[in-house]
Order: sequence, then C-alpha cells, then structure tokens
Amino acid sequence: MSRNVNLTGFGVVRQPKTILFGPGERRSIAGVVAAIGSRALIVTDRRMEQSAEFAEILESLAERGADVSVYADVEAELPRTNVEDLLAEQDGRTFDVVVGVGGGSCLDMAKVAAVMLAHGGSVSDYYGEFKVPGPTVPIVTVPTTGGTGAESTCISVVYDPDLEMKVGIASPYLEATAAVVDPVFTLTCPPSLTAATGADAFSHLVEAFTARSKNPEPGTQDRYVYVGKNVLTDEHCRVGIRLLGTSLERVMAAPGDLEARSDTMRAALHAGLAINTTGTAAAHALQSPIGALTHTSHGFGVGALLPYVMRFNLPERVPEFAEIGRLLGVADATAGDLDQAHAGIERIDEILLAIGVPGTLAELGLDADAIPKVAAQAMRATRLTANNPRELTTESMRLILDKAYKGDRSWWS
Ligand SMILES: [Fe+2]
Repeated sequence: MSRNVNLTGFGVVRQPKTILFGPGERRSIAGVVAAIGSRALIVTDRRMEQSAEFAEILESLAERGADVSVYADVEAELPRTNVEDLLAEQDGRTFDVVVGVGGGSCLDMAKVAAVMLAHGGSVSDYYGEFKVPGPTVPIVTVPTTGGTGAESTCISVVYDPDLEMKVGIASPYLEATAAVVDPVFTLTCPPSLTAATGADAFSHLVEAFTARSKNPEPGTQDRYVYVGKNVLTDEHCRVGIRLLGTSLERVMAAPGDLEARSDTMRAALHAGLAINTTGTAAAHALQSPIGALTHTSHGFGVGALLPYVMRFNLPERVPEFAEIGRLLGVADATAGDLDQAHAGIERIDEILLAIGVPGTLAELGLDADAIPKVAAQAMRATRLTANNPRELTTESMRLILDKAYKGDRSWWS
C-alpha cells in the first residue's frame, strides 16, 4: 500500500499555550505579557511602530509598570544580520518575555531573538530541526497581517546572505506561550500586503491538506518537527479553506469589512496550526530561490506557483482536491472525484487572480534562463520537498517552473 495514505488515523498538533482571537483582543496584550514578567522586549517594524494601535499597547504596558525595550527595525524576509543587529543593540540585557508585533518577519524575529537571548552562540547554530537545546525566553506573538500563520508556528525563517537561501530554525521550544490575534490590526493593511498574505495562507492550507502522509512510528514526532498530513491538521485546513473561500475576495473589495477581515485572519491562524506539524511543500521550496532572484514577496511567489503545483500534485491527491472543491462550494457532489477536484483547483486559480496575484512567473519577473538554477536550489530545501505528496526531482521541478513561467494551466497527463 502507498505510504502516502494515513494508515493509522494518526494526528498531531502543536500550538501556543493560549490563543486569544477576536476584534479588540489587542487590549489583552498588556495583561498577557504582565502575567509572564515585567521586563519585555518588543520587536516590530517601522510601519507598525508608527501606528496608533502600537502606541496603545505601549501605554497599557506602561500603566502596568512594565520595563519595555522596543526594537523597531525588523526587515522584510528577516536577514540573519538583522537578528545580529538586534542582539548587539540589546548588549547583554535580560528579558522575561519577547513580544513580536507585526507580519511574519517580526514574529520570526521574536522567536529567534528568544532563542538567542536564552542560549547565546551564533544564529546558524540552530538551523534545522530540534537544534534548540531547551526552553527559550517566553514568546508572545501578535500578528498584524492575515497572514503568515507565524503566530502559531514553532519555526523562525531567516535569510542567510552567506548561504544565499532561507533557512529554518524549527523546534517545539519556539512555540509561543501566547498568541493574541486581533483582526482590527489588518484593517489598515495595504492592498498588496493583504493579497500577498492571503495567498500565503491559501498556499499553507492547500499544501497542508494535500501534504504527504508519512505514517510516523510512535515517537517520530520527537525527532521530526514535520510529520505530514494527519487527521488533526486536516480539521484546521477544512475550516481555513472554507473561510478563505468566502472572505478573501471580500477583503480586497472592501478593506474595512471587519467580518471578512476576521474570517481571513482566522483562516490564516488555522493554516499556521496546520503547517506547524504537516510542513509546507513544493510551492514553498520553489518560492525561496525565486523570491531571492526577483525580490518579490513570499506570498505572491507561493501564490503564483500554487496553480501549477496543484496540477502536478493532483494525481496523488484527487480525493483531497475534490473535497477542497466541496469546501469552496463549487464542486457538484454527485460528479466524479476528478471533476470535483478540477472545480476546486480552478476556483483557487480564480480567487488568486481576483486578488491580484501574478498568474505566471514571467509576470512575477523571473528570467527564463534562471529556471534550471531555481529548480536545483529548490531541491536543496529537503525539509519542504519531503512533504510533497508527489515525488519531486530536479526534472519535475523544471517542468513545474516551465509551465508556471508560460502560464500553461492544462491538466498534467
Ligand atoms: Fe508561506
């Protein structure tokens, strides 16, 4: 029997100890932080630092007598050198809690800073899975985009300029003590950021729901962070896919629609909870080198690739794509699985195009000559390629890239 079927009904989720969700929950941040300790390091970016909501968070922490240090220079895609700058600036100070407020890079910075403040050494010492030797400084994540799901994942992704690639620091010790998820933050997200992070969340849900089933032995999850598609993450995917199917186009058309913003942000949270144990797959492996070459956002990269990756993976995952068609309300449940799967994939294509995700890699700005290099580099992301439901080779990566470059959306034979 194929190892790509979940033979035992295995399930595993990892998640923050507390998750607070809902409009207005940002007002709970000070209480959540104070319950952990009084010396807080808050990491964010320039855009967030200037917002009224951020001023409100600082004010409420001051009212509680917290000793707060703010680092507001987090850069997009989180270069390793950015982490080193933060550590140099703190100059050996100690903290009871690290709070990340912002998009994925800010939350990833909070996680990696919490590791470094607890254990020292070099950032590269912790690249890989299970390299963090023990508990970190407690982490609180406050996402402001809807989103990367980084509030709930126990990985920090860093761009290493020496390696010219993104690397992950993945360990259950990076799980946040608390995540405070308030959709009000996303009301001021610029349209391109809303689209990119929404496409990222969609890619997470699809890649997790269709990921390889690894059928781990008992205890395997103590050695591997990513153990494949399973029955518990599937439930997060179902909720997330349904929510994005009805909300993503609405938030683009009406950015002030708080109900749609809430649905999108909750979908992103469920997506984060899913990929935290399933892992992501081919679209994420391919995006990393493409993002480095084109300087385009992670979300637009994975969103541009997703239609072609779904078509490549379809032969291994027909029932799952058929269910996606039903979750999105476009599949005729009396039709055959393949027809339902096609309807689901085409609906995702439609949503991605409607929100402004580039439809081809040419449109994204990739040079056709770079395709062989991208395929080879993507194969190095073994943490991700191992999760893909259909076996990946350098040759199949090239085929996906060729089709994605040209916009060839025919079904693979
Ligand atoms: Fe992603």
